[in-house]
Amino acid sequence: MGLGHFRHRTYTHLTTPVEPLTRLTQALGGPTLWVKRDDRTGLAGGGNKTRKLEYLVSEALEGGATALITCGAVQSNHCRLTAAAANREGLACHLVIREKIPGQYREEASGNNLLFRLLGATLHVVPPNTDLDAAMAKLAYEMAASGTLAHVVPMGGSNATGSLGYVRCAKEITQWSIDAGVSLSAVVCASSSGGTHAGLVAGLHPEGVDVVGISVDWDSEPQTEVVVALVEAVTQKLLAPSIADEAVVVHDDYVGPGYAQGTPQMAEAVRMFAQLEGILLDPVYTGKTAAGFIDLVRRGTWSKDDHVLFVHTGGSPALFEYAEQVLP
Ligand SMILES: Cc1ncc(COP(=O)(O)O)c(C=O)c1O
Repeated sequence: MGLGHFRHRTYTHLTTPVEPLTRLTQALGGPTLWVKRDDRTGLAGGGNKTRKLEYLVSEALEGGATALITCGAVQSNHCRLTAAAANREGLACHLVIREKIPGQYREEASGNNLLFRLLGATLHVVPPNTDLDAAMAKLAYEMAASGTLAHVVPMGGSNATGSLGYVRCAKEITQWSIDAGVSLSAVVCASSSGGTHAGLVAGLHPEGVDVVGISVDWDSEPQTEVVVALVEAVTQKLLAPSIADEAVVVHDDYVGPGYAQGTPQMAEAVRMFAQLEGILLDPVYTGKTAAGFIDLVRRGTWSKDDHVLFVHTGGSPALFEYAEQVLP
């Protein structure tokens, strides 16, 4: 069953551009580096979740939902974009926001939190260690009791349906490769809730392109397990041949002290992209992913004749809340 069989909403009208990272390539001394500008997808502020939401919200509407519920961290890009998609469709949006440490949530915080509020989402702030799936299920139950059918979008939009968005992205990358006459050796992406990584593996592994996931959160073993399960789920959904577990590669050397906690390599990567290419990354996801991308290039992972593509999954609105992590 082809990807075209699955209905989706349209929040992004064009294939996102692929641009050469000419000055970064020069600074690092090759291979030839490229960036897929998935920070320029549609909806408020763009980023990878827009592609997933095109499929997820379509499913919600088909089920007759009049509200969306999702969850995330205090600066969640996924929550921002879910709120924007809900507005586009005229749905209510409820966000379950989990603190990492008690009292972390600040109503006046900038970045994505400002945008949740501007977009008019209803926030439910819950303490650390809250079971998010259970909290969302309870909320959906309560809303149903008062007559609202809410569709629960999983953490990060990462299930088989959301991952279809990144199978679609993989198809764009393959088409670009043909059109531009560029044979890619590898594609590098962030790996967190896993749907981006899984969709890219499902779409690119059969084309002979390696996908390198950079974890921003977990150790490589549990992260690999999450992505392998999602690859299986999305290939099954597509009735496509299964993909060997070995196709899922996760590096966990760039997480640092933990999720959303800065590292010197992340700060260097954010500044290099800004100052060499005029491209804004974010400290939590793409900054750490770019730190891995740059380090793997410096270590000679690819030869000078290779072409390697970095998937920019967005997130720059969070920069405004994490200035101290990225400025010297
Ligand atoms: C900007 C950005 N990049 C990458 C990711 C990771 O994508 P995934 O959750 O599909 O692994 C996220 C997840 O929230 C994100 O917000």
